Amino acid sequence: MALDTTQQNRRMTHFNDHESIWLFGYGSLIWKAGFDYLERRPAHIRGWTRRFWQGSHDHRGTPTAPGRVATLLPASGAICHGMAYRITPDILGPLDVREKNGYLREVVTLRFADGDTAQGLVYIATEDNAAYLGEAPAEAIARQIAAARGPSGPNRDYLLNLDEALRALDVKDAHVAELAHHVRHLDSEAPDAR
Ligand code: SIN
Repeated sequence: MALDTTQQNRRMTHFNDHESIWLFGYGSLIWKAGFDYLERRPAHIRGWTRRFWQGSHDHRGTPTAPGRVATLLPASGAICHGMAYRITPDILGPLDVREKNGYLREVVTLRFADGDTAQGLVYIATEDNAAYLGEAPAEAIARQIAAARGPSGPNRDYLLNLDEALRALDVKDAHVAELAHHVRHLDSEAPDAR
């Protein structure tokens, strides 16, 4: 898969003729929308689990020292909680650029707390993308995150903002909480490294 997925996503015309589209965010899209939306609601999707297995060359790291950001892995029986945004189709262009480092649009069923469901889009970085890093021990992932920084800022801010946003939503995500715990511990050992 190309390093830049913008063109691939532009060819994905699903929902383009709709007046509004539901977008499910599970990473930075939870705590940093950065785009206009018509409404936002906490939501979840089934069959996916959040993992810091995607490399970031463009936002939270560099090509030679990539950071680690969230993607989703298929997992039977899993539930991934996040934030749903109802957007107009013109927002997808800038989103494709923001998510260009390996993420592809995928159609999913969004489920809201009141039992409502809606078809929508989510950006997922699958393991065949050029920036994919995959599984590693939690301590190693945390060390990489604590050290990395890119044009959007320190990688640790991405992780800790996500951890705080999930707590604010009353969502327990053991993977994110474990990484955040390790990174805070590393910070307390070497506060000047921040
Ligand atoms: C998302 O937040 O839904 C996608 C991954 C990211 O941009 O952090």
